[in-house]
Amino acid sequence: MKALVVYATITGNNEDVADIITDALEDNNVDVDETEITMADPADFENVDICVVCPYTYDEGALPDEGLDFYDDLKAEKLTGKVYGVAGSGDTYYGDDFCVAVDKFGEVFAKTGATKGAENVHVNLAPDQDDIKKLDAFTKQLVKKAAQIND
Ligand SMILES: Cc1cc2nc3c(=O)[nH]c(=O)nc-3n(C[C@H](O)[C@H](O)[C@H](O)COP(=O)(O)O)c2cc1C
Repeated sequence: MKALVVYATITGNNEDVADIITDALEDNNVDVDETEITMADPADFENVDICVVCPYTYDEGALPDEGLDFYDDLKAEKLTGKVYGVAGSGDTYYGDDFCVAVDKFGEVFAKTGATKGAENVHVNLAPDQDDIKKLDAFTKQLVKKAAQIND
């Protein structure tokens, strides 16, 4: 089973989220690549079973600036038969705009025809022990769903 984890980060929190998911995928014997969003192409998701995005949220619910092309190109992808999950770090200080980019990526993935493997995970700032548990559970669900689809 293969996975691609794409992250966008300014201060490192979403890279940490992506690292935790990547480690957990490896622990579940998944062959995983982890790529920063400007180096990734949504077409790369065609070659894997599990697709993950870890975006930060900026300026009142905005997507990462450097990830806008990736986001637009993802809209055009057909990912039927793939499993997706979105997890990212924001800041609860921003109230209703907390982690909006996570949910925006989730909406786009749903339109690609891919199957949602786990509920979106919203992390406040740097992931703590509780977040690591949530991200491990998130990863296990993705792997389980992908195994069901490939059965
Ligand atoms: C100018 C600015 C605007 C932000 N706006 C939001 C926001 O609307 N929603 C949110 O959840 N977090 C917001 N954040 C917080 C970041 O998303 C948060 O610090 C996140 O952990 C950064 O991820 P990174 O370390 O991967 O860059 C904002 C941060 C800054 C500096």
